[in-house]
Amino acid sequence: MHETTTLTGTKPEQYAQLADQARGLLHGERDRIANAANLAALVYHALPELNWVGFYFFDGSELVVGPFQGRPACVRIALDRGVCGAAASSRRTQRVDDVNAFPDHIACDAASRSELVVPLVQGGALLGVFDLDSPRPSRFDAEDQAGIEAIAAIFLESLS
Ligand code: SME
Repeated sequence: MHETTTLTGTKPEQYAQLADQARGLLHGERDRIANAANLAALVYHALPELNWVGFYFFDGSELVVGPFQGRPACVRIALDRGVCGAAASSRRTQRVDDVNAFPDHIACDAASRSELVVPLVQGGALLGVFDLDSPRPSRFDAEDQAGIEAIAAIFLESLS
């Protein structure tokens, strides 16, 4: 069984602890689905005020939902649609304080108010995105972004 401990200290300290837990969880396993599933579960249960945490993978033409925690989600997202599409096509993290103000936001769960989407790029190729949604507006700040980008990097490292 995988043991997780409650995160303590400042937010950067908490993300450092979460990164350690992620490394331990993925250690010795390279399977993309297995590692995405466990990472979504780890993050969803470790961090407060989230209603959806998961992965979309690029199938060569659009994003297709992968392992996640939360309510059932949109299955396919074109690269020119929504926050996930913006992260994938620009290959830049999208941190959206108010999804209702984001042009063309896709409301998979009407409860979502803010969103953090990190692109996953492996060897120059788009693999997909790691998406976190919150029911609270402005849930994610720059420290959250840095912490989740580090977790995304641990996921990518685990695959190689
Ligand atoms: N809101 C996202 C769609 C994915 S879900 O929130 C799970 C978007 O606009 O890309």
